[in-house]
Amino acid sequence: MPDTVLPKSIGDLPAQAPANPESEAQSRARFFNTGNAFNVILPPVPDMAFTEEPTQALSSQTPTGLIACDISDQLECPFPATSPFVLAYYGKIKAGETLNTDFVSTGVIGYVIQGSGSVVCGDETVNWGQGDLFVLPGGYAHTYTANSEDAVVWLVTNEPQLSFENLQAPAPGTAPTGVVHYSAAEIDRQIGIIDSVGRDESSPGSALIFSSDSNEASRNALPTLTVAMNYLPPGITQRPHRHNSVAVSLVIKGENCFSTIDGKRKDWAPWCTTITPPVSIHSHSNHGDEQAMFLIIQDGGLYYHGRTMGFEFLEQPEPK
Ligand SMILES: [Fe+2]
Repeated sequence: MPDTVLPKSIGDLPAQAPANPESEAQSRARFFNTGNAFNVILPPVPDMAFTEEPTQALSSQTPTGLIACDISDQLECPFPATSPFVLAYYGKIKAGETLNTDFVSTGVIGYVIQGSGSVVCGDETVNWGQGDLFVLPGGYAHTYTANSEDAVVWLVTNEPQLSFENLQAPAPGTAPTGVVHYSAAEIDRQIGIIDSVGRDESSPGSALIFSSDSNEASRNALPTLTVAMNYLPPGITQRPHRHNSVAVSLVIKGENCFSTIDGKRKDWAPWCTTITPPVSIHSHSNHGDEQAMFLIIQDGGLYYHGRTMGFEFLEQPEPK
C-alpha cells in the first residue's frame, strides 16, 4: 500500500509519472484517467465583431502592413488566431508600395476591399481590383503591390491549424491549391445564374461557393476552408441553423443588417469581420433597402472530412 493518502476520486489525481523510469523516453510518460483527462475547460469562441481593425486599415494615416484580427488571448491560444483554426487580417498597401507576406499556412484567401494592384506568388501574378477574390497557395512568399491609390485586402489563412500541430508551410508547389482568381465581374455573373434559377428551402440562404479545379470534388477552396459569398435581399432573414464549423465573415454590404446568435442581436458595421461561434444557433437578417452581401469563410472542410459537420435547422428566440 502507498504511504500517502489517496484522493477520494480518480478525478482528483494529478498527472502521474513513471515511478522508476529506465530511460529518458520512459521519463517523458504521463498518465491520466477517465476522471481527470476530460476536464480541460477552454474559453468558448466569442460571437464578436472586429470593427476597429477595418477602421484602421481604411484610414489614410495607416502605413502599409498587416492588421490581424487576433483574439488569441481570449481563446487562451498560444498563437495568433481569430478562431481556433482560422486567422483573418486586413492588409493595407499604400499607393505604389509593396506588402510582403510569408504565412505558414496551406493557402490564403484574399478579398479586395479597396483599390487595385497585383500579387506575385511564385511565377504567377494576379492583377486584382475592388471586389475580386483570390486563393494563393502556401509555401511561397506573396508580394502585394498597390496601384496609384491605397489598397486594402482582407486576407484569411489557416495558420492556427498548422500552428496547433507545429507544422511548417508546404514545400513550394505542393500546396493543395494553385493560384485561383475570381474577378468581381465573374462573381456577379455567377450570382446572376443562381438568382435566375432560384433555390428551395433546403438551403439556409443564397450563396455562391468558391472552389477550383484542384478542389472541385470537395467543393472547397482549400481542404479545410470553405468560402461563400452570401447575399440577402431586403426584408429577408435566413433560416436559423447551426453547424460545428466556425464562420469568420467579412461584411461587404449591409445597411441595417444584423446577425442573431443564440437569441442575441449583433449589428453589422461596414467591412467588419464577424465570428459566428461553432454550434451557435444563428441567422442573418437584412432590414435595409438594399441587398446585403457578406463573405463567409468556414473551417468546414475539417468537419465534412471528419463526418462531424452537425448541420441542422432550428428555431431560435426573437432577437432582444
Ligand atoms: Fe451558418
